[in-house]
Amino acid sequence: MTADSGAVRIGLLGCGTVGQSVVRWLEGHEGDGKPADNHRLEVGPILVRDTARPRPGVDPALLTDDPARVLDDPDVSVIVEVMGGVQPTLDYLRRALQRGVSVVTANKQLMARHGPELFDVAQASGAELRFEASVCAAIPVIKVLRESLLAAEVTAVTGIVNGTTNFILTEMARVGLGYEEALARAQELGYAEADPTDDVGGADAAAKMAILSSLAFHSRVGIDDVPYEGIDDLQPEDLAQAADLGFVVKLLGVARSQAGGISVRVYPGLVSRGHRLAAIGGPDNAVLLESPTTGELMLVGPGAGGDATASAVVADILSVLGTHQGSFLHNALADSGRPLMPPDEVTSAFYVRLSVADRPGVLAKVASIVADEGLSIRTVVQSGTGDEARLVLVLHEGRERQMKAALARVSEMDEVRGEPVVLRVLGTGEGEP
Ligand code: NAP
Ligand code: HSE
Repeated sequence: MTADSGAVRIGLLGCGTVGQSVVRWLEGHEGDGKPADNHRLEVGPILVRDTARPRPGVDPALLTDDPARVLDDPDVSVIVEVMGGVQPTLDYLRRALQRGVSVVTANKQLMARHGPELFDVAQASGAELRFEASVCAAIPVIKVLRESLLAAEVTAVTGIVNGTTNFILTEMARVGLGYEEALARAQELGYAEADPTDDVGGADAAAKMAILSSLAFHSRVGIDDVPYEGIDDLQPEDLAQAADLGFVVKLLGVARSQAGGISVRVYPGLVSRGHRLAAIGGPDNAVLLESPTTGELMLVGPGAGGDATASAVVADILSVLGTHQGSFLHNALADSGRPLMPPDEVTSAFYVRLSVADRPGVLAKVASIVADEGLSIRTVVQSGTGDEARLVLVLHEGRERQMKAALARVSEMDEVRGEPVVLRVLGTGEGEP
């Protein structure tokens, strides 16, 4: 396969939800005056596993199951990686970048695990490595952190960075859809990863928060530095109880740079209804960036889906083609060497639900333990009677270790049944935005 003279050939690794949207965009905008016209773009070859499966709008002759046909094609100028996974993807991208071929990727797991190494390879060969689509699909948050906020000292990044879980939680709250039904719908709509475990378990959001906090705090935060919890263990009764207390539940990414170091976490948290993140529904994502110089900036938009993601991929392709060597703020992530905070020292407000036997003095005992560990209670709600009572506490901001110590002691009380449920709380007007 040789490129038409004057055409720029774009090779693809993967042609699923995102890949097909990219191909449709590239084919559909030929000659209609969009910026791509500065460079006549030619699609192919395209690596897939199953070349026989029909893909609407994609010329089957371009499909191959041989990676060398994409990676070693001398006429391919940019490789778009939309196949996902860490291996063999890492080997493929290393090979392309070593040859000096620029890469545009939507792969957050790969970037969160091997970004620095790939940047080093790109730097050595002079190739570009772009990854806007890896975080929050259509929202241009990478570019904002890498370029627009370079002069600002970003101190906090708080986000809803997974479209699938936000869609599931919104549908459960809005129309009372069951968890499984809402997840199946998110898969049908192309929001979920090939294996949705990463979405609902929090690993997808953790990878995105590792990337965002690396850029925001000029540090090397890898996915293993981000403790994460997903929404798969959430109980419907906690969603209902949160609503009664004036909160909505969201899967949150919370990153802070403070005196003790950096902390980055992902967890399902209660968000006060008046908070700006509470209104973000469906597959939308939002990232709230804080800096003493800029104040709060919030970016909102579609965080998942083929076309939303393809818009970021195509913009990266065009940006690579329009970048003259060295003119773009190039590649390697600067590393300020700031330490990570020990997870137990990180603070937040807490929601705690206990199943208790309703005997005189239970609440006083719980309150005394909580106070003894240096935490204070903001709200208490008790419902039910006898052995089936439910005690819900919302605690003011405290450290993880204080909350764990209090819960360990509360769990040992004769009146407490089963494991306490703990969720973190955002937007109570303390410490966090
Ligand atoms: P997808 O629908 O599962 O498509 C994956 C594509 O890659 C398929 O064409 C598949 O081939 C091909 N592929 C996978 N492993 C391969 C291998 N080992 N060798 C050759 N081909 C392989 O996934 P997607 O939703 O488009 O997502 C692609 C990437 O974009 C992922 O990194 C994802 O995290 C990221 N992303 C997705 C979204 C979204 O909303 N979907 C948003 C942002 C970022 P077959 O077609 O033959 O199976
Ligand atoms: N599966 C991801 C999500 C796609 O639901 O947010 C975007 O990265």
